[in-house]
Amino acid sequence: MKQLHKQPSLNQQHQIPTHTHTSSYSSKSAKQQTRSSSFLRSAASYLLREQRLLFVLAGALIASTFFLLSPYYHSSLSRLSFSSPDEGPHRVLPSFHHPSLDRSSTTKASVSVAAAGGGGGRRVPAGLRKPPLRIVVTGGAGFVGSHLVDKLLARGDSVIVLDNFFTGRKDNLVHHFGNPRFELIRHDVVEPILLEVDQIYHLACPASPVHYKYNPIKTIKTNVMGTLNMLGLAKRIGARFLLTSTSEVYGDPLEHPQKETYWGHVNPIGVRSCYDEGKRTAETLSMDYHRGAGVEVRIARIFNTYGPRMCLDDGRVVSNFVAQALRKQPMTVYGDGKQTRSFQYVSDLVDGLVALMEGEHIGPFNLGNPGEFTMLELAEVVKETVDPSATIEFRPNTADDPHMRKPDITKAKELLNWEPKISLRQGLPLMVTDFRKRLNEKK
Ligand SMILES: NC(=O)c1ccc[n+]([C@@H]2O[C@H](COP(=O)([O-])OP(=O)(O)OC[C@H]3O[C@@H](n4cnc5c(N)ncnc54)[C@H](O)[C@@H]3O)[C@@H](O)[C@H]2O)c1
Repeated sequence: MKQLHKQPSLNQQHQIPTHTHTSSYSSKSAKQQTRSSSFLRSAASYLLREQRLLFVLAGALIASTFFLLSPYYHSSLSRLSFSSPDEGPHRVLPSFHHPSLDRSSTTKASVSVAAAGGGGGRRVPAGLRKPPLRIVVTGGAGFVGSHLVDKLLARGDSVIVLDNFFTGRKDNLVHHFGNPRFELIRHDVVEPILLEVDQIYHLACPASPVHYKYNPIKTIKTNVMGTLNMLGLAKRIGARFLLTSTSEVYGDPLEHPQKETYWGHVNPIGVRSCYDEGKRTAETLSMDYHRGAGVEVRIARIFNTYGPRMCLDDGRVVSNFVAQALRKQPMTVYGDGKQTRSFQYVSDLVDGLVALMEGEHIGPFNLGNPGEFTMLELAEVVKETVDPSATIEFRPNTADDPHMRKPDITKAKELLNWEPKISLRQGLPLMVTDFRKRLNEKK
């Protein structure tokens, strides 16, 4: 049977006679061969005469040295290193080198970023300013994001904000419209996007209980798919990625104050789980992209933050109390008012986020103000600042509301050289001025 199916060998196939004009074709090619070999002989004897070969070799050496040192060659190389074959084509924008990106060179991503940066032709002579970075801020039209954008633009970087305006407002960024280093893109992070940047600050996610409970499925989608999309982008382009996680990952903590080593006490099936568990998953994804794909990640666990541009009616305790006191309404205290929180002014948080992004450590890092206040104490400070005649109204506590929350920031102090500077009594009046202005505009 085997013999019946036996195919002619390759040699046999080559020996099969071809059609009739083969011989005329071979005689033409023989003539061509003779012509080209006589050309080669005369070229070689020309080169050997009067050391011309030496000159040709020297010329080739100089040309290849120029080619290897040219910035264009390096930028092409870096673009090649950014595109992985499994990820298809992508839009390539100019990338910028930042020395801080070269520091932790242990990961795959850092190697490609260093190649891109180091060879980008943007070597900075000692003593001169760092070249600007291209940075994406997701959720940049929100409360924290817009303050972060202010800081990044003020230091000379280029910023692209991605926001679906669920809780964010164009008003928070309107002062940057017309700045050529600023771009605002209406985009939902649940969908992928192609951009080339050096750093990604991933903030997109509704942060107040009123907003994240409004559509819990969307909240968890934002946390999981949105974070996956941004990590995928970071992997593809070799960008550094910072996740804004939350103190909510500690749930209703059994350890006080909370250190980063504490794994938390979280209800996985409660009404707040879309946010708490969503952020915990986002942290897991970040670490898996770091370990598995070499993405340079940074994780911040943010504790309660307040300041200008917070949503007026987002149900967060500071904005609630301030808006109610300004409207001459009683301040609503849930439960007995003895549950504690720490309150961080937004500029302190932004400084911490930037220190984390620029530093060498992955985290997670608690970023919060360790000053601890009960809800009743907070109400007193708001009364002092806004209206001494303001009153308090008690209501039943909400489900899964943590009893205590206070960050241990030893790690951030030691490794990021960061700690908050603004006390509640200093920061609150700044927020009150902003809220008063916006409430008056609404009238
Ligand atoms: N402010 C705090 O006290 C605090 C505390 C812990 C963690 N955080 C985290 O910090 C980040 C910013 O919080 P914030 O207080 O500025 O909240 P915010 O609601 O003011 O800002 C969130 C921004 O993300 C945008 N966004 C929401 N879903 C999106 C989506 N699917 N696609 C694109 N954009 C989307 C919103 O429109 C908004 O502009 C959040 O990730 C939040 O979880 C904040």
